[in-house]
Amino acid sequence: MSKQQAGILSIGAYVPERVVTNDDMSKIVDTSDDWIYQRTGIRERRFAGENEFTSDMALRAAQVALQRAEMKPTDIDYILLATASPDNTFPNTACWVQQGLQMGDIAALDISTACAGFVYALELGAALVNTDSYNNVLVIGAEKLSSITNFTDRGSCILFADGAGAAVVTRTEGRGTVVCSRNGARFDYDALNVAAGGSRMPASHETVEKNMHTIALKGRTVYKFAVQKFTEMAEEACSRGGIKPDDVALVIPHQANVNIIESAMKRVGIGMDRVLINIDRYGNTSSASIPIAFDEALAAGRIKRGDYILLEAFGGGLSWGYNLIRW
Ligand SMILES: CC(C)(COP(=O)(O)OP(=O)(O)OC[C@H]1O[C@@H](n2cnc3c(N)ncnc32)[C@H](O)[C@@H]1OP(=O)(O)O)[C@@H](O)C(=O)NCCC(=O)NCCS
Repeated sequence: MSKQQAGILSIGAYVPERVVTNDDMSKIVDTSDDWIYQRTGIRERRFAGENEFTSDMALRAAQVALQRAEMKPTDIDYILLATASPDNTFPNTACWVQQGLQMGDIAALDISTACAGFVYALELGAALVNTDSYNNVLVIGAEKLSSITNFTDRGSCILFADGAGAAVVTRTEGRGTVVCSRNGARFDYDALNVAAGGSRMPASHETVEKNMHTIALKGRTVYKFAVQKFTEMAEEACSRGGIKPDDVALVIPHQANVNIIESAMKRVGIGMDRVLINIDRYGNTSSASIPIAFDEALAAGRIKRGDYILLEAFGGGLSWGYNLIRW
């Protein structure tokens, strides 16, 4: 790890205007504010408008990140966009952002590792800079999960939401440095999937009738896996970064369920006062959840120069990953 120059120069986020409360959800499925809050920590979430797509939200978050980096869209030479809810199969969503911001003919790549998308993209973005292949990489997590949610399944539809976050990754001379990252995956179809719409099950009347273009999950399976992975990843990140859990100033975890986060942090020995939680207001925005939370932590003054920040996520695949950042 001799040449870790790449870091996060700036972060931006965007959430759509429309607030959907748990009481609103209880008009769609048989549920209650109390059940949802106790089991997940969610009070409300945001849904994008009918004509607001994943790339639109990505673009808005990217504009904020670029402005804070004091960069023009044409200063970027690579877009990495993590999403599980792309605008299209192709052109990919990164291409939509490229043309929306008039960034020129730069590389535009979508990353498909569901909720672990941002931590995957950040590791790759940092690697592109560290190998001197590219200078300024725009790393985005953006989702319109409401477009792939099964609103007849009360066990899952109460979780998901829309939003976007973006980071400018470049040589930062010791600021926001990506100290170390690790990504992994283990095939598990039944735990979490969107069954139809690909070559395995092309769209048909039957797939539409049976809601097979939406997210299916085995909540308990994912829950247990997530607690274990969050614990392991936090311990591994500290060990590889040469620090102790006590040295982590702030954990910014994927916002899937507050109870998952609390169980894992208890095992690692990190108090919840050092964990960023905003699932109460935004629900699970998949690959967007970490950059949205990161943006909030910075705005709230919860991160100081030199702090160790741990990002960790898990998602469909199953996939997982972490990034240890020195701010
Ligand atoms: C989804 C999740 C909130 C469900 O919570 P849970 O405590 O595991 O609940 P269960 O699925 O075991 O269901 C418990 C009971 O609540 C009921 N229930 C499920 N959803 C409900 C809802 N929205 N409102 C009211 N009751 C509900 C179930 O029918 C079940 O009833 P029963 O005991 O009579 O059979 C939880 O498992 C979870 O957060 N899992 C991980 C998150 C995840 O997979 N995220 C996606 C990838 S990041």
